[in-house]
Amino acid sequence: MTSAGPADFLNRLEIECPVVQAGMAGGVARGELAGAVSAAGGLGTVGMMAPTAFASALKDAHRRAPRRPVAANLLVPFIRQAHVRACVDESAALVVLHGGVAPRWILRLRERGLTVLVTIGTRQQALQALAARADGLVVQGSESGGHLLGVQPIQQALPEVLQAVGDTPVLAAGGAAGAQDVRRLLDLGAAAVVAGTRFLLTEESRAHPDYKHRLLDAERTIATRLFGVGWPLRHRVIANGATERWCASDDLGPPIARLASRASAPLGRIVPLGAMGALARVQRVGLPFFSPALPLAGMAADSVDRCALYAGDTVRRLHDVIPAALALERLAPG
Ligand SMILES: Cc1cc2nc3c(=O)[nH]c(=O)nc-3n(C[C@H](O)[C@H](O)[C@H](O)COP(=O)(O)O)c2cc1C
Repeated sequence: MTSAGPADFLNRLEIECPVVQAGMAGGVARGELAGAVSAAGGLGTVGMMAPTAFASALKDAHRRAPRRPVAANLLVPFIRQAHVRACVDESAALVVLHGGVAPRWILRLRERGLTVLVTIGTRQQALQALAARADGLVVQGSESGGHLLGVQPIQQALPEVLQAVGDTPVLAAGGAAGAQDVRRLLDLGAAAVVAGTRFLLTEESRAHPDYKHRLLDAERTIATRLFGVGWPLRHRVIANGATERWCASDDLGPPIARLASRASAPLGRIVPLGAMGALARVQRVGLPFFSPALPLAGMAADSVDRCALYAGDTVRRLHDVIPAALALERLAPG
């Protein structure tokens, strides 16, 4: 697929609407959300979880969207061979990687017949991903919510990457709240547009109800390293108890938190993803050591102040929690 070009990319996926729901890890984007988006004609994505839950969420998404493509998202430091097996067994239409260019995993996924897209933030990372034989790229703008590789707004990052990678399909992530945003990115040359925050604010997303509620009132986001234990990337979040306590003078968070984030980077390769959820249950607003786990439905109410409230800048323009099919309809470029 490497030299196939954007139009062919959509044809192969057989999606009616060039909008991809971002895979959101930790249990936010399960079969319910991914299945609803795929059934409505977009491309739904199951976010990363422990391998068994991940496999059953892919199966569930396919059950909800029979004969439609469903994608899978994997966070590089936490990938295990069982995730690869789940993608193969459950026929993931695409596997989107985030959190680094990992030639070993790209190779293993491709050897099993899967199509692999790598998320990047810069032109240099784009070239690294292609050298590692990624089938395509997701370029992430700095306004994106959640795990953040983007360093420039998508309107600047996308043309730069497109210029560097020729015919390779490039998806654009960041800043898509409505149809006009999607149209603008397609006109710039994106093969499809990835939206996270819009789909976070849907009935099918498993984010904690209070988290969704806070998103509706949010007026600003910050990019921080505060939620970096075991995952040393920046994250774009809205304010909560943890950021108010630790990011008042510097959005990135205090030096001790950044040090802990760097020092704990190898953890992802050693401990399973589920351990991050366990850490989330014990972390406290008063201690600057926070995992990247986010508050899910069913967690205690105070998790909304102790865990990361991921959101992109689009949050300022999104004011409702709606069914995923309606979110897709509002993003559809026509
Ligand atoms: C709640 C949330 C969780 C996210 N988790 C992931 C993830 O697990 N893997 C990933 O590749 N990207 C993740 N992202 C980033 C998205 O893939 C995408 O780049 C981003 O949502 C696009 O910007 P937008 O939020 O403005 O639509 C997440 C984003 C959000 C909002």
